[in-house]
Amino acid sequence: MDEVAAGIYRICTPLDVIPGGFTFNSYMIADDEPLLFHTGYRKLFPITREAIAKVIPVEKLRWIGGSHFEGDEFGALNELLAAAPEATPFGTEVGVLTSLNDFAARPARGFKDGEEFSVGSRRMKWLYTPHVPHGWDCGVLFDLSTKTLLCGDLLTQPGASVPPVTESEVLTASEGMRRMMDYYAHATSTSAILERLAGLSPALLACQHGSAYRGDGGALLRELATIIESGNANLATASA
Ligand SMILES: [Fe+2]
Ligand SMILES: [Fe+2]
Repeated sequence: MDEVAAGIYRICTPLDVIPGGFTFNSYMIADDEPLLFHTGYRKLFPITREAIAKVIPVEKLRWIGGSHFEGDEFGALNELLAAAPEATPFGTEVGVLTSLNDFAARPARGFKDGEEFSVGSRRMKWLYTPHVPHGWDCGVLFDLSTKTLLCGDLLTQPGASVPPVTESEVLTASEGMRRMMDYYAHATSTSAILERLAGLSPALLACQHGSAYRGDGGALLRELATIIESGNANLATASA
């Protein structure tokens, strides 16, 4: 558990799921209405709960959500909802429709693209990013006060022991991972969505796997968009 920006804590769990290891991060925002972004796997719930409790009583959580519906994003949702009776599950509107309202023990809140909400002293903005990097229901959450983008799987980096925050670029590592695992959907809207996120000028990219990147987040996302575009252009040439 490390504080990576004012009031934003990264809960990091390394697992041996690939050679060299891999980290699973949840981010907890300790504000008047504490928010957890990514529940972690259901089987990891006891250690996730223990980590949260180092900063706030778990029952104080008011918002529990994630980018898209997979085990590492939402697996422990119901265990957390039971531990935090006043918490509202959240995700994107499509995610609520397709998965969350079926899976969650309580009705979920589906945010619209661009919708803002307050968690106390700071405002959060939800951005719908369908299929980027994967999942029809995919979205990301932006903290307007610290300019932190809780960017989910966008820049997935391998390795079990990575620093909580780095100022070195993370694109080389995440591109290695993208080539190996092909975890980006082959969507036509990818670069336009990345450009939109770059326009937020994030100062911290809080990745779910690997280190959070502190620096010019907009420039890094634009660099990624350019690489993806040139890959698509190569594919188009090859199939012509
Ligand atoms: Fe994912
Ligand atoms: Fe993930």
